[in-house]
Amino acid sequence: MKQSLKNMYIKNKRVLVRCDLNVPIKAGNVLDETKIIKSLKTINYLLENNCKIIIMSHLGRIKNEDDKKENTLLPVKNVLSRLLNTEVKFADDILSEETKNIALNLQPKEILLLENTRFLDIPNNLESTLNDDTAKKLASLGEVFVLDAFASAHRAHTTVVGIPKYLPNCLGFLFEEELNMLNDNLLDPKPPFTVIMGGAKVDDKLEIIKSLLPKCDHLLVSGGIANSFLASLGLNVGTSLKTTNETIIEELKNLMLKYKEKFAFPLDAIVESTYNKTPTLKNINQIKAEDIIKDIGSKTTAKYSSIINESETIFLNGTMGVYEENAFKNGTMEIFNTLKNTSGNVIIGGGDTISAMNNLGFKDTFKNVSSGGGATLEYIAKNTLPGIEAISEEDNIETLDL
Ligand code: 3PG
Repeated sequence: MKQSLKNMYIKNKRVLVRCDLNVPIKAGNVLDETKIIKSLKTINYLLENNCKIIIMSHLGRIKNEDDKKENTLLPVKNVLSRLLNTEVKFADDILSEETKNIALNLQPKEILLLENTRFLDIPNNLESTLNDDTAKKLASLGEVFVLDAFASAHRAHTTVVGIPKYLPNCLGFLFEEELNMLNDNLLDPKPPFTVIMGGAKVDDKLEIIKSLLPKCDHLLVSGGIANSFLASLGLNVGTSLKTTNETIIEELKNLMLKYKEKFAFPLDAIVESTYNKTPTLKNINQIKAEDIIKDIGSKTTAKYSSIINESETIFLNGTMGVYEENAFKNGTMEIFNTLKNTSGNVIIGGGDTISAMNNLGFKDTFKNVSSGGGATLEYIAKNTLPGIEAISEEDNIETLDL
């Protein structure tokens, strides 16, 4: 058993909490607060224990200076302040002396949110590639480390797996609850077990797909992942998102041969073209060079629904199309409807999938919901995660000298 927050001596201490506050933000507004709300249980417990709280999270993907403008955690700070009914302090220069001073001078029940930890990736990848010096510096801000970012636990980031080497550490309540839910439902899933995967990039997910295939009975795909598989078969997917990496294309072909009977691909799609913005339903073999696939069509919905209805366990990560646009939300709506009415055990995972679920009217419909998308897929495939490995076992707390 991993060390639990409820067994830690934390009264009046400075506690560093790694949350996953990677929420959708547009024009400075948080579009879905679910991940922030789920993080409150741990934060409120720390407040009740008079802790001085330092919160960390990443937001989005940071590859250059420009990405920083779009991905500040300031909007999250405002939501946290409102939800907790207290002014949350904010530090934009994570490793500066000034931030350290603020952290060391926090009073009981005061909260400091650090800026997006992935800003540390420019220029030296200090967050995304585990960096021990940075982990030590960050650890020196607190006396205890709580890992509550289940959705980031598949990332061997400095703030996920580095800091716990240098501080007494434990899992937070969100992390434990999601882990227990996944252990109950997905560690030994009742067959037929179906995984539905949407998402933009297959390159990111290839390793997971490879480990998942032996464990599931059906893999239903959509979005950029489906397009890449279809394109590797020689089908025209127009200008839709797909991989161009030749090695990956070869691997996709091999996977399709090996697991032919497990895969389900779109049979039709709703497309928009460069010349004609009217959404048009096309069979998958009729897509033209100028088309962009933006949703699955009715034949695909029927096929995917029938597989879902024959399954005992179903895990959904991702949407069927660009559900944010009215004309392309139908596929995702229909799949949520099927999942709502099926007798199988349904587990939903991932921040974007939760946003789609809430926005399309399925809030509070499903019992088993995890904030982790990639994390849950990796947990199903490997039964552990780097973040879990990094946390001490109960009664075995060791720290290194800082
Ligand atoms: C998520 O939303 O899945 C997590 O926050 C992880 O984000 P990442 O895929 O950018 O690492």
